[in-house]
Amino acid sequence: MTESARKRLDELKGLIDNANYRYHVLDEPEVPDAVFDGWMRELLEIEAAHPGWVTADSPSRRVGATASGAFEPVAHAMPMLSLGNAFSDEEVRDFVLRIEDELGVRAPDFSVEPKIDGLAISLRYERGVLVSGATRGDGETGENVTENLRTIASVPLRLRGLDAAVLEVRGEVFMPRQGFEQFNRAALEAGQKPLANPRNGAAGSLRQLDPAVTARRPLAFFAYGVGVVEGWTLPAKHSQTMAQLRELGFKVSPEVAMASGTEGLLAYFARIGALRDGLDYDIDGVVYKLDDYAQQKAMGFVSRAPRWALAHKFPAEEQLTTVEAIDVQVGRTGALTPVARLAPVQVAGVTVTNATLHNAEQIARLDVRIGDTVVVRRAGDVIPEVVRVLPDRRPMQSNGSPLHEPYRFPDVCPVCGSATQAVQRVVRQTKAGVELGEGAAIICTGGLFCSAQRKQALIHFASRKAMDIEGLGEQLIDDLVELGFVTSLSDLYRLSLDDLLEMRRRADERDGTVPETVKQGKVATRWAENLLASIAASRSTRLERLLFALGIRDVGESTAKLLAKYFGSLDRLMQADADTLQGIPDIGPVVAANITGFFAESHNRDVIAGLRGAGVEWPESEPQRAEDGPLAGQTFVLTGALQAFTRDEAAARLESLGAKVASSVSKKTSVVVAGEAAGSKLEKAKQLGVAVWDETALQQLFDEHGAGGG
Ligand code: IVH
Repeated sequence: MTESARKRLDELKGLIDNANYRYHVLDEPEVPDAVFDGWMRELLEIEAAHPGWVTADSPSRRVGATASGAFEPVAHAMPMLSLGNAFSDEEVRDFVLRIEDELGVRAPDFSVEPKIDGLAISLRYERGVLVSGATRGDGETGENVTENLRTIASVPLRLRGLDAAVLEVRGEVFMPRQGFEQFNRAALEAGQKPLANPRNGAAGSLRQLDPAVTARRPLAFFAYGVGVVEGWTLPAKHSQTMAQLRELGFKVSPEVAMASGTEGLLAYFARIGALRDGLDYDIDGVVYKLDDYAQQKAMGFVSRAPRWALAHKFPAEEQLTTVEAIDVQVGRTGALTPVARLAPVQVAGVTVTNATLHNAEQIARLDVRIGDTVVVRRAGDVIPEVVRVLPDRRPMQSNGSPLHEPYRFPDVCPVCGSATQAVQRVVRQTKAGVELGEGAAIICTGGLFCSAQRKQALIHFASRKAMDIEGLGEQLIDDLVELGFVTSLSDLYRLSLDDLLEMRRRADERDGTVPETVKQGKVATRWAENLLASIAASRSTRLERLLFALGIRDVGESTAKLLAKYFGSLDRLMQADADTLQGIPDIGPVVAANITGFFAESHNRDVIAGLRGAGVEWPESEPQRAEDGPLAGQTFVLTGALQAFTRDEAAARLESLGAKVASSVSKKTSVVVAGEAAGSKLEKAKQLGVAVWDETALQQLFDEHGAGGG
């Protein structure tokens, strides 16, 4: 019945794709592995019978030629046990007391180890050669993943200097964090789905049907014990076995140590907890193992867990909860951060009610909506974040569509109502241009007008390199703003002695403090007089200081100087369009857009008018035109390593001659100066037919124009 076989094939593709998605992407496997393997086997059988039906998107295309479609079951000769868990110091104390009582010893020695968050594996060596490797499975029976394990560099294929009849080595396969991040970066660049987390990455990688795929995954193995041993005598202590395993060629976590008694165990737990974020592998707790095998034997087992070992777990870092609302907070720098308000949930030991959603892109990527069930994560000291949404638990209407629409990021600031704007995050500004961070930030363009940004704006405005108002520190600014004495920058210049004294009185009243002077029936006025004097002194300033003081995004001291020099007057700068601004060396599209955006906002123009009205003044000068230099109108791009000068020096000399120095090559580029090991920019210049000079030609140019002195 080809017809039904064809239908079944399509059905299997759907089932397998869905299961793969849930396992690899959502990290929420829904069907048991055996069912999945059965589907895969069935699909391969149908395709084998009908080779013409194999399509490019078939899940079988992930499978190598030798793939079986399933892993055989392996019965463990010695069961792989689980560990009893402890979540509190109390439980650890009880564990130690039980051992002390039963064995009649005091503060016994333990091997203390990180509990690696990967996949338990048993490796079987016969006559020193790896013959099979299996997952833990249910502890009695695991899956044979030998071929995949062979691809892991830290799994020895042969023991170093031991040919015992049988040695089973047990340990954990994991994906180091660095490898995980690297793998995900590459996957994202290639437009492929990233791995959900390192543990899932390790599990998924070992389960690949094609060992060639596993081989490309960054996996590692840490040994933590032995199973069946024949033809070799184990040392008397676990710690000695670990040392032996190292000599046989296994990696053992460098954090494995010794400790005695409850205090020793708890100290180790605290030490590893503090180290946790800095490790290159995920751990979910520590494991305490009685070191002496004779003592282990005496303690024995209950059900499937040893009574001589204990897993002391860190509190879970991920939990499920629901989203009650999505709010947007405005930071002191104007960045809008979306925040999920959550039904309270305990995560990693604290109650979490809010979690950051980072930015608009993240919200869109997660598609978080009100009412959604989400995974929240709080790792270390990091602020809680929403990791993912469980789409199957989304509240629905009776007509089958979601109850809530996708979230829309507000296009006005929730605090002041000014327009919001997407800006590239500038990480660093260099001679070669600006370096941009990942993703756009949404900011409030209200700037000085926005109360969320007001304090920050005032602190910056008064700072030494800006308007340099001595004595106007953070505490005073807090009080001035909070008690309503200052709402805009120009209000500073309207403060009277009475205002300041009244403000201080109210601040003292609010804080319940009674200053010494008041007790003495006097009023301290000196500080206020001094402050008024320095505010007054700041009225006469320079354009570059004022420009810096305005706090325009990405306009630091040096850009402010540059703008002051090129425009000479504030009005000319305010009228400049983005193209004119980009004509200035070092000003790229992002900074140009920030400047024009700032002056386009009427609130900001009001602030400037207010300052002028309050008597703030600065000398203006003629604009310095780039057209004045001998290289006016020419654009140079420097690439590769120069010998006689650094690129910065060469750029400065070119600019002093009126040229513009740009960081990328375009049709508008006049000359590309290519030094040693020039790369893509040189290629581009050749493609576009732009003139290419070597360093000698540049030197000649400088000699001709007498700009050799730098
Ligand atoms: S010893 C009889 N040591 O934890 C002792 N297990 O619940 C058996 N694990 O699935 C395990 N790091 O994969 C031991 N240093 C360590 C471990 C460790 C991680 C995992 C192991 C097992 C689970 C036990």
